[in-house]
Amino acid sequence: MKRQLTTALAGALCVVTMNAQPKLSATNIDEVIAAMTLEEKAQLLVGGGNDSFVGSGAMLGHQQKLVAGAAGTTVGIPRLGIPETCVADGPAGVHIDAKRKNDPNDYSATGFPIGTCLASTWNTELVRQVGEAIGNETLEFGVDVILGPGMNLHRSPLCGRNFEYYSEDPFVTGAIGTAMVQGIQSQGVGVSAKHYAVNSQESDRTRVDERVSQRALRELYLRGFEKMVRESQPWTLMSAYNLVNGEYAQGNKDLLTSVLRQDWGFRGIVMTDWIGKRDRLPTEREVAAGNDLLMPGYPAQVEDIVKAVKAGRLDIKDVDRNVRNMLEYIVKTPRFKGYKYTSKPDMKVHAAITRQSANEGIVLLKNNGALPWNVALQSAALDQRSLATNGAQEGRLQGKNPQPIKTVALFGVNSYDFFSGGLGSGAVNVPYVVDMVQGLKNIGVSTTPTLTEIYSRYVPYARAKLKADKNPMMWFLDQGQPKLDEIEITDRCVAHEVKEADAAIITIGRQAGEGMDRQIEGEFNLSQREKDMIFRVSDAFHAAGKPVIVIINSGSVMETASWRDRADAILVAWQPGMEGGNSVADVLTGRVCPSGRLTMTWPIAATDHPSTQNFPQGYDAYTFNEMLGWGSPIKGRDYTSHDEDIYVGYRYFDTFRREVAYPFGYGLSYTTFGYSNLKVKNIKDGQVEVSVTVKNTGTVSGKEVAQVYVTAPKGTLEKPAQELKAFAKTRELKPGESQQLVMTIPVRDLASFDEAGSQWLADGGQYTFRVGASSRDIRLTAAAKVSRYTEQVSNALAPRQPLNLLKQ
Ligand code: BGC
Repeated sequence: MKRQLTTALAGALCVVTMNAQPKLSATNIDEVIAAMTLEEKAQLLVGGGNDSFVGSGAMLGHQQKLVAGAAGTTVGIPRLGIPETCVADGPAGVHIDAKRKNDPNDYSATGFPIGTCLASTWNTELVRQVGEAIGNETLEFGVDVILGPGMNLHRSPLCGRNFEYYSEDPFVTGAIGTAMVQGIQSQGVGVSAKHYAVNSQESDRTRVDERVSQRALRELYLRGFEKMVRESQPWTLMSAYNLVNGEYAQGNKDLLTSVLRQDWGFRGIVMTDWIGKRDRLPTEREVAAGNDLLMPGYPAQVEDIVKAVKAGRLDIKDVDRNVRNMLEYIVKTPRFKGYKYTSKPDMKVHAAITRQSANEGIVLLKNNGALPWNVALQSAALDQRSLATNGAQEGRLQGKNPQPIKTVALFGVNSYDFFSGGLGSGAVNVPYVVDMVQGLKNIGVSTTPTLTEIYSRYVPYARAKLKADKNPMMWFLDQGQPKLDEIEITDRCVAHEVKEADAAIITIGRQAGEGMDRQIEGEFNLSQREKDMIFRVSDAFHAAGKPVIVIINSGSVMETASWRDRADAILVAWQPGMEGGNSVADVLTGRVCPSGRLTMTWPIAATDHPSTQNFPQGYDAYTFNEMLGWGSPIKGRDYTSHDEDIYVGYRYFDTFRREVAYPFGYGLSYTTFGYSNLKVKNIKDGQVEVSVTVKNTGTVSGKEVAQVYVTAPKGTLEKPAQELKAFAKTRELKPGESQQLVMTIPVRDLASFDEAGSQWLADGGQYTFRVGASSRDIRLTAAAKVSRYTEQVSNALAPRQPLNLLKQ
């Protein structure tokens, strides 16, 4: 009897304990929240970093838990069946350690093309495929969320992280971002779209106040995020370090809750960018504002949350809301589902996707007939099968360059140290990078022996020297390939090379990354050594009747106007991923007909951008200013005024008719295209349909990007001269072949943000639809009447104090 009683009691106790310890499933989230202690709830809202995450390390993942080299983890609560999850950078591939302690295996990941290169494809289907491949590597390396895509706008050509972002235009940003998120998330892993919002500069990014009008915010800086959130429901978003109009983005409820969740319907989690406990922003404000996860996470933040709830400074309802969001995220993760990852994604397949996507992102800026090369005469080394299937080969012999190119003199250190991607968290630990020597070799073109030897010996020396000389402030140089100094190219050296080569290639590399912006001198502009190299090489090669091709291996824009006359062809290869040299060679030979188009204006001078006058220039200046002006806010460091307001990029250059080096949307092809049959009609549900026929009128196969710019009638609000509202890329068209492109524009997309009425407003009237090959190459226009459209939204994000912008 006694024994029976004991057993019954034990059973009852067991039931009680079981009730208090439900194991997390997709259907018992309420029950789990009810079973959690306050301490457990607080812990779930703070990442699994620790107090050693200080200084620069706090801003870059070097996590050893779960997956070595990942950026961070969330904390598990085993008694409730809540696993840890793992997040890794992004965005150009999975950023994890390639080597692990006491482990002979290699965990290198594929280096895909950087953001600007992918966006320059204007091919959302291709970007989706890249997303699928990145998602697959995320899954197979045991990571739950990849920290990307980067969705900030190229407000200034000097921003150090433009390479991770897509464009100066919010529509392109939203369209490419949507494709990327859909591709990645189709693999059952998540993204963290970043940095929300207005992280437009790297200098003093953790304390700069971005002062920007409510209209520019809604219409430009948030609009790409909005499109992507509405169309792809990212699992997570990352809140930015900077302030927006006097308030930290990470403490800004308007941004993180009113706009993001209430206006746009975001259902994922918001995690902070990697700063841990902030000096001037109380933890409870971050939690209440709508950051579900504080990263990388400090134990002190857990205590802060517990204390704030107990002291009544933080509502437990806010904590529970965030905990629910976290649990809803966790049940979706591969780690929760027990996915058995292999750490062995199919790198060969992904290398092919990398090569192909970079092929389409490369932009041909100039071509006087030097390209494509006459490879038909040296076809022995070519892969005939890929030529035949590509279709781009017809007419290759009709270029103005009939001489076969057998040997090339390769100048510029980046010909030999080709940049796959950028620096900092955006870098990927890749297994290899195909440089130009290898890329040319693979198409049967050799490089001149002396020059190749000089540079090949120089590169390892310069790498070692850079390591020894490195400024410890530049911690991010350890991540990725930092820029090595150019070597001086003398007239004698060139005179020697010109005799041995059929053509010269000069690669001009630019590197940038998180934590630092670019300088005008030597970074946007050429350095003296680079200028000398271009001038000496072009003098000698042109005197011998031999072509000079410049390859720009940079994540973003640079100066071209002062030297472009010296080049017969200029290719912007961007940082095209680890297959770089092969991707460039494909375009040089015409195996691929270039179809990349610029997603940002290339100005003549950096100062032509109105944002430049409000853009910080150089850290030394700050230290000096800081000494002199301690106490008073310093422009560019403590605040940045967006005086240009909505006139960012081509919106400025086209409205105020300023000359540019290369306009937004620009890019040459080896063929030509005709546009006809433009029709614009109103269709159901407040949508406008634009259709146009594009015909290949040239002699080789190729793809074209039709861009639709819209000019609004004069109305209530001042508007830019034109804005991109749709685009479409053709399939590969054979000579003589046509394709009809049909694009749909929701009338909502024609609206601007009307601050006075807190509404989206499109005035009624005649709109002009201008279709062309760039913002300055409009081929056809048509007008259509559009009825007035308004949509009331919250007045969130109205600046709390007047902004000192130009127009006021
Ligand atoms: C960067 C983020 C990155 C994070 C984790 C931060 O410093 O701004 O883009 O995802 O570090 O490495």
